Amino acid sequence: MKILTTISDVRNTLNADRAAGRSVGFVPTMGALHDGHASLVRASVPENDVTIVSIFVNPLQFAPGEDLEAYPRDLDTDAALCSAAGADYIFAPSVDEMYPEPIETTVSLTGVSEPLDGQSRPTHFSGVATVVTKLFSIMGSCSAYFGQKDFQQLAIIRKMSLDLSLDVRVVGCPIHRETDGLAMSSRNIYLTADERSDSVVLNQALAKAIAAIDAGETNPTVVQNLMIEHIDSAVTGELDYAEVVDARTLLTPEVLAGEVRALVAVQFGKARLIDNMGTTINA
Ligand code: PAF
Repeated sequence: MKILTTISDVRNTLNADRAAGRSVGFVPTMGALHDGHASLVRASVPENDVTIVSIFVNPLQFAPGEDLEAYPRDLDTDAALCSAAGADYIFAPSVDEMYPEPIETTVSLTGVSEPLDGQSRPTHFSGVATVVTKLFSIMGSCSAYFGQKDFQQLAIIRKMSLDLSLDVRVVGCPIHRETDGLAMSSRNIYLTADERSDSVVLNQALAKAIAAIDAGETNPTVVQNLMIEHIDSAVTGELDYAEVVDARTLLTPEVLAGEVRALVAVQFGKARLIDNMGTTINA
C-alpha cells in the first residue's frame, strides 16, 4: 500500500489506473480509523480495482471551540488498518497542500443541510461540502463510500453530487456498532467510563422510536418524546436533539409516512455523539 501526500501524486496515480482500465473506489475519512471505516474499505474493495482512503482532519468543518486540535491523529495505526482492510493507497495531505492559500471558494447547500446538525453546528456542513467537493475533484471519476451514521452528511453529499453533476457514485454503507449498540465513532475515545456506559441510550432511544413507529405510531411528537424521555435517563449526557423526519427531506412531517428516519445528538462531556435508525411505513 502506497501513502501519497500531494494532489499531483494522487491525480497521476489514479489517472494511470483509469487509463489501464482500473476502476477507483474512494473512502474519505479524517483518520482515527476504527472498524466502521474498515467496513467502508471492505465495501469498496470487491466493487473496484483500486481503493484509496483519504485521511485529512479538515479545519473548515470545525467551528471555533470544537475539537480540531484535540482530534486524534495516528497515521501509522490508520495505515495498518487500511492495509489490512485491502486499501491500495492512502492520501494523507498536509493542511498547506489542501489549502495553500486562505480559501475564498466554498460549497454550501440549503434544504437538507438546514435542520438537525445544521441548527447546532451552522458552519459545519459548508466545511464538509467544500472539502468533499475538493476531494472528489482530486480523485476524479470514482465510487465514494460513506457511513450512514452521518446520515445528514450523506444526504448532503448525494444532493451536492447531483446538483453539481459530480462524476462520483455515492454509496451509503450500514452503521457499525459496538456489541452494546453504540455506533462506532472516532470521538468515542473521548468518553469517560461513566459516559461510555450511559452512551448506549442513543441506540436504545432510537430502537424504541422505531419499535413505536413499526407498531403503528405516526405522530412524530409522540415518538420524539419517547426518545427524549429515554435519553434524559442518562445522567452524564445532555440532549442536543431527538427528531423523527422524512428520510428524503430531513424535515418533520405532520404525520409520519413512507421512509422515515429517527436521529439523535447527545453531548457527553467532550464527545458529541450522533446516531440514527430508519424504517418504512407502508401505506
Ligand atoms: O465523515 C467524515 O469523516 C468527514 O466529514 C469527511 C467526509 C471525511 C470530510 O472531512
